[in-house]
Amino acid sequence: MDKLRINGGRPLYGSIPVSGAKNAALPLLAATLLAPGTYILHNVPNLRDTRTMLKLLQIMGAVWERDGSTVKVNTTTLTGAEAPYDLVKTMRASVLVLGPLLGRTGTARVSLPGGCAIGARPIDYHLLGFQALGVVSAMTGGYVEARVQSELTGGMICFDIPSVTATENVLMAAVKAKGTTVIQNAAKEPEVGNLIDMLEAMGARIEGKDSDCLTVHGVQELHPAEISIIPDRIEAGSYLIAAGAAGGSLEVTNCEPAHLAALIEKLRAAGMEMTVQGNRCTAFCPVDSQGIPCPLRAVNITTMPYPGFPTDLQAQFMALMTRSSGVSIIHETIFENRFMHVAELRRLGAEIAIDGGSAVVTGISRERLIGAPVMATDLRASASLVIAGLAASGTTEISRIYHLERGYENMAEKLRHVGAAIEQVPD
Ligand code: EPZ
Repeated sequence: MDKLRINGGRPLYGSIPVSGAKNAALPLLAATLLAPGTYILHNVPNLRDTRTMLKLLQIMGAVWERDGSTVKVNTTTLTGAEAPYDLVKTMRASVLVLGPLLGRTGTARVSLPGGCAIGARPIDYHLLGFQALGVVSAMTGGYVEARVQSELTGGMICFDIPSVTATENVLMAAVKAKGTTVIQNAAKEPEVGNLIDMLEAMGARIEGKDSDCLTVHGVQELHPAEISIIPDRIEAGSYLIAAGAAGGSLEVTNCEPAHLAALIEKLRAAGMEMTVQGNRCTAFCPVDSQGIPCPLRAVNITTMPYPGFPTDLQAQFMALMTRSSGVSIIHETIFENRFMHVAELRRLGAEIAIDGGSAVVTGISRERLIGAPVMATDLRASASLVIAGLAASGTTEISRIYHLERGYENMAEKLRHVGAAIEQVPD
């Protein structure tokens, strides 16, 4: 296993291109199971998670090839409708094959994902949604066995919580259901909209995109499509936050600033200068003659479903607030255990107290965090530790960076390109 070694305290100057969104690529790759034929997906990030999803499709009989960021997937021949435990345990988003398999074959056998570092991650909303479409499912031996009882039939669904992948999974079955399906309290994340664009390009009929109420008119046949993955707003946001932590002037390109409104507002409130121009967003945080970044105001955040502040940027924003000149309250409302990065940030000298779903961060203002060996625990916690390491004085070594590789394409290389002293070394 490798680790990342960062010599911190260097401001960032330059431009970073954003890759395609992991959380759009995963459902859109799963959607290729819905209809036989060859699909062309552009701007697909080359990540541990997208490689896992492609491996899963291959196990079920699909054939794929990658040419740069374009991936062609041929799902003409499906030899199986099962997602095995050894793959699903590494990526819970594998459950996204349930909906398309039900839409195509009427049956699916998918390992229960099990929890992960940030929470129990149940899939009850997914199964309740399928039940409304005439699907019966049972848990046997750690697997979800789902099958269409007689025929896939449109129904009414209202989610307790606007679950992103539950919305996506149910959509991918409903497009082939007889009649109309209405999904209320649907997730409105841009990645859901990207999936709707793909499904419509395949011949599906869906109303209400970007709203919390989706109406799906089922169709008999779907066909392959060509689609582009939207930019990764979480990757882009992570780099904008890094610019605030290390200081400097950092432009992210190929991004969609409209998807980052909540973060941009909070970075401005903290005292950073944020400019948006087309598909570029620049974060500016001046540094003094000693290279110390300007002080930041403490800002409170509460994570919310889109368009609120994204839970996937909570850990990164917390790393930023460790150097504010006040006290920041960070309230995590989406996942029950998404403060795994706190203990590691404390090792770098951060002052953070946890009270249930809130973290109280007391900024150390003019001082710097002090580099130290830390351990990544989950994907976004890893990014938080990189950001803290960039801001800290001295050397920070981050182990278990396979977590980071799940969701960030060439992060060390992209950061070196803008002046960071960061390298991947054997652990
Ligand atoms: C998606 O996960 C993302 N993953 C997550 O990104 C993201 O943090 C999350 O949405 C929230 O935005 C992908 O898109 C692949 P949820 P998902 O269902 O769909 C509860 C990352 O770092 N819930 O919106 O699994 C759940 O426990 C990852 O890129 C149920 O109770 O999240 C959570 O508390 C992490 N039952 C809340 O809903 C269910 O059946 C929201 O979860 C489903 C969810």
